[in-house]
Amino acid sequence: MCGIVGYIGDRDATLVILNGLKRLEYRGYDSAGLAVLENGHIEIRRDAGKLSRLSLLVDETPVHGKLGIGHTRWATHGEPSARNAHPHLGNTGDVVLVHNGIVENFLELKDELTAMGAIFNSETDSEVIVHLIERYYSTGKNLVEATRLALGFIRGAHSIVVISSREPDKIVAARIGNAGGVVVGLGENENFVASDIPAILEYTRQMVFLESSQMAVVSKKDIKVLSLDGKEIEPQVHTISWDAAAAEKGEYRHFMQKEIHEQVRSLTDTLAGRVDFKTSRIRLPELNLTESFAKQIQKIVIIACGTASHAGMVGKTLIERIARLPVEVDIASEFRYRDPILDDKTVVLAISQSGETADTLAAMEEARSKGAALWSIVNVVGSQAMRLANGHIAMQSGPEIGVASTKAYTAPLVDLYMLAVLLGDLRGAIKPTEREKLIADLRLIPDLVGQCLEREPQTEAVARALMNTSHCLYLGRGVNMPTAYEGALKLKEISYIHAEGYPAGEMKHGPIALIDRQMPVIAIAPRDPWYEKMLSQVEQAKARGGIVIALATDGDERLPDIADHILWLPETPWLLSPVTAVIPLQLLAYHIAASRGLDVDQPRNLAKSVTVE
Ligand code: AGP
Repeated sequence: MCGIVGYIGDRDATLVILNGLKRLEYRGYDSAGLAVLENGHIEIRRDAGKLSRLSLLVDETPVHGKLGIGHTRWATHGEPSARNAHPHLGNTGDVVLVHNGIVENFLELKDELTAMGAIFNSETDSEVIVHLIERYYSTGKNLVEATRLALGFIRGAHSIVVISSREPDKIVAARIGNAGGVVVGLGENENFVASDIPAILEYTRQMVFLESSQMAVVSKKDIKVLSLDGKEIEPQVHTISWDAAAAEKGEYRHFMQKEIHEQVRSLTDTLAGRVDFKTSRIRLPELNLTESFAKQIQKIVIIACGTASHAGMVGKTLIERIARLPVEVDIASEFRYRDPILDDKTVVLAISQSGETADTLAAMEEARSKGAALWSIVNVVGSQAMRLANGHIAMQSGPEIGVASTKAYTAPLVDLYMLAVLLGDLRGAIKPTEREKLIADLRLIPDLVGQCLEREPQTEAVARALMNTSHCLYLGRGVNMPTAYEGALKLKEISYIHAEGYPAGEMKHGPIALIDRQMPVIAIAPRDPWYEKMLSQVEQAKARGGIVIALATDGDERLPDIADHILWLPETPWLLSPVTAVIPLQLLAYHIAASRGLDVDQPRNLAKSVTVE
């Protein structure tokens, strides 16, 4: 969950690091720091709080050099404070380290190292790693070797980056397990290391991603990738197509608002090259799906967390309806420990924006060990979830910076729809006329999303009405039941208002007891096969004094008579209605949180990429 940046080259490392950390601010953190080699000495600046505190510190006591590392910390061991902030310097003052992950055996290692004379200057688990490296360094090993040997002692998942004043020509980075990525950016006479692509995208698009149990030795002119047993590995260079400007806020007040508005473009890009409107066929080449394998599949299990799991729930309806193939959806953190029943006729499909969510990656590994085929839908190109899978679909969302996922929710909805049509086609589950209709409907999506965005003012008006509420209930059914979950998650994570998503049909089994004037009900009731059922749900809520905000399709004449507020939606083919229905809910959450003056892009306690269990 921490952000990492490293630089070696001719630029001012301090500036590159601060700039890179700024682009990782969205990950959420509680302290930040950097270490730069200045005149042969390692100089550290670090403080608790926002990056602006670190920048101030650097302004007061400047530091310059051509080699350095930086870090934003999300505390796991030890309170957020200057002494616990990374980087951590060893006792000799020669070696300095930043770390992402949890050293599971840190207490035991700390005791051993203390007994051997190490002096600990922080309460962090990370500090044991730098003392371990120093132990080997002092026996005459070089930095690469000392780091490699030290890594053999720590348990858990880790990403680390180390430099030494005795070897100013290199940065050493390593990845063990799934505690976040390590990406090496390749420049001309300069190289970069980062936890995430946006940190270094301004300087290079040529990137190498470390796999688990790999190290990188990064110098000004080249990079070397090694396995943890010391063998050299040919690095695979990926060209990142993301635009650096896409990681800027531009004219928008918040990244989240910008990203909501980017959905016309991201969905247009999602269709481009994948949908052949002339032949009415879908192409998903990176999935490596053959007709014979499509016919062999007996079950798909979708695994994901948070927003991505809501996309998976919509995917269940789409794949079952269109391809007539059974689908289960499982929360990755549950799936990984449940001893799931899988075989080689099961496909496990992971959905993850970051492609680095620890629970999702662990669930994928569990699925692989049980012989299932693995697919993934990911946004971050080159991420672990993409590399682990036998086939993947790359979301075309571009960098998503706001912690609350928006454009990386609608892209997988469309990806899952395309997957459903492809599977239906290959398995002979849909007739050509049905396929043509399903594909023709896809063409409408960017324009329909654009229409939803043009209606932002209607959402702002409802946001004003709801901004002081303490609770909110979101109700949906069928393909839009997950829309209720997603709307509620958006509201709770950025506005801190208690919100629940519920399958509307379950209300009478308990939750209806909650309804009164203090509990606004947001009813997702577009014209889909569950419309009539939703209408009676709205009636029941009104009969109990609830304030109802209904999402209704243009031209609906019944809901305006019952509901207190209407959020109008353009007429959308029902299988695609979750794509349009979620837009006003994203905007509603955004405007409520913004009008409460909250930190929309970095909500408290949350991080963009959840790389711990
Ligand atoms: C979404 O708004 C959340 N911040 C969160 O639920 C997120 O979707 C979840 O952590 C999964 O992340 P991933 O898609 O990167 O795996």
